Amino acid sequence: MNNKKIIFNWKMQGDLSFCKQFLEVLSINFKKNYNYIVCPPMTMLHKFSDINYVNESFFLGAQNCANVAELQNEINYTGEISITNLKQFNVSHCLVGHSERRRHFNESDDIILQKMDHLLHSGIIPIICVRKFFEDGDYIKDIIRSFICSVNNVDNIIIAYEPVGAIGTGVVDNLYSIEENIAQIKNFIAMLGLNFQKKIDIIYGGSVNASNVGEILKICDGVLVGKVSTDIQKLTELLNII
Ligand code: PGA
Repeated sequence: MNNKKIIFNWKMQGDLSFCKQFLEVLSINFKKNYNYIVCPPMTMLHKFSDINYVNESFFLGAQNCANVAELQNEINYTGEISITNLKQFNVSHCLVGHSERRRHFNESDDIILQKMDHLLHSGIIPIICVRKFFEDGDYIKDIIRSFICSVNNVDNIIIAYEPVGAIGTGVVDNLYSIEENIAQIKNFIAMLGLNFQKKIDIIYGGSVNASNVGEILKICDGVLVGKVSTDIQKLTELLNII
């Protein structure tokens, strides 16, 4: 059986001492059948780059990457982080298309699709955030089509269904709506037909906490946890429940 994914998005939170606390809590509460992927701010990636010392179900993710591929050819992007650079820190996953990036940095569907493509070619698994199917249907279809049609170094992607009203608000989407939106994505994948070597995990994100994570995990492949992953008490409660 495929391990459920528990992804932690620290956003702009966390500091060097929190990295240590986080690892301690995670290693105490680690459970089989889950993959844990932590996405700290870029400046803290180095604290996790020697990830094997935790165990083989723990992975390091970035919160963003540049939408240009090669460091050598494309240096004129002050402030951006290349995928080549991320790989030096053993980053295996990368968030793209988060609604906060769309809102604050005007990221478009095209930019997100470029990032996804570069990540796949570089051997990094993209975690692509999408909104409700009625808002993002065509974009979701483009993601899936371009993944299925491409020849890549990575055989799986993670799609995170994240309704905007649930992100950072404390108001989780209702289970019916989560199921419905995930079913719509799955129906489209089924319609296209998926090469058996390629896999798409579909997870949920938006105000996940200890009291709702159990029910949510029953209906999808994992969760993307923001705020709760930066509070040791709440994180411990959540890790205990799953
Ligand atoms: P939240 O964030 O858990 O704080 O709602 C989720 C996310 O932004 O991915």
